[in-house]
Amino acid sequence: MNNTQSAILAPLTSHARYMLFTMEPETADLAASLRAVQDLVDGENIVLGLGQSVVLALGKTLPGMTVFPALVGPGFEVPSTQYALWFWLRGDDRGELYHRSRAIEHALAMDFRLQEVLDGFVYEDSRDLTGYIDGTENPKDDAAVSAAIVQGMGDGLDGSSFVAVQQWMHDLEYFEHMSEEDQDHIIGRRKSDNEELADAPESAHVKRTAQESFTPEAFILRRSMPWAEGNEAGLNFVAFGRSFDAYEAQLNRMVGSEDGVADGLFSFSRPVSGGYYWCPPMKDGLLDLSALDI
Ligand code: HEM
Repeated sequence: MNNTQSAILAPLTSHARYMLFTMEPETADLAASLRAVQDLVDGENIVLGLGQSVVLALGKTLPGMTVFPALVGPGFEVPSTQYALWFWLRGDDRGELYHRSRAIEHALAMDFRLQEVLDGFVYEDSRDLTGYIDGTENPKDDAAVSAAIVQGMGDGLDGSSFVAVQQWMHDLEYFEHMSEEDQDHIIGRRKSDNEELADAPESAHVKRTAQESFTPEAFILRRSMPWAEGNEAGLNFVAFGRSFDAYEAQLNRMVGSEDGVADGLFSFSRPVSGGYYWCPPMKDGLLDLSALDI
């Protein structure tokens, strides 16, 4: 897929830095700022997603583009904290990522303001900080492309992807006081050997989100990473799709909107952010913004 921001389909790097920007109320030259973005984003070390506000500010619409929905479930909120730009910086050196993020902030200073920064990392063999391996049931190879990448929609759209980004904050004190059996029932897999549990309760996370159990099937490509700042920690959930439909179907089932059963994850973790972004395709090594007439 040489027309895709290649990091979407690549393995995770050991570190990452996520940046969220809002657009200034009075932009100086939005098209010029987005051309500056084009010079920065190579799709491999820097991935970009555009929020709906940028698309609308350019007087455009994109098929399937929308904002993150705010949801509620029994005893918890799933907030929508939509921003204008989402950057995913990838690398193996935190210092270098930090300097790269400063360069991006400076390059966009005319029209975009940095609001949130989060550092992510790979823990052991791609585990969430609860100790469970995350990503086992991710689609692979052609199935990954079919799940995550827009195809058959024409130039400017083919090769793009829709990403859902949600920062979750864990209560690890609470989680670690549970027996390992109760923890396994929250996830629906055994921590010790990653086997799926035959007798998992309806609330088990992998039962809620079993991708082939939806109609139509709801496959997404997860590229989440743990985060830890001070004493707070959790998972920065990142999922790419050819639309937002599969992710949204899963999230709705997780909050219990189908049957009133909430995902066991909510017993120890809460989402504190949520945004939807469109990751433009690449063309001849450059970010292709032709769908936005740039
Ligand atoms: C606190 C946040 C979350 C944690 C710690 C977490 C962790 C996990 C773990 C450990 C697995 C099992 C291994 C695997 O297949 O990857 C899993 C599976 C999965 N998760 Fe999550 N997850 C979180 C949030 C979400 C969200 C918000 C969604 C989508 C709305 C989601 C969608 C999925 C899917 C689709 C699977 C694979 C299900 C299957 O087909 O077997 N996860 N997750």
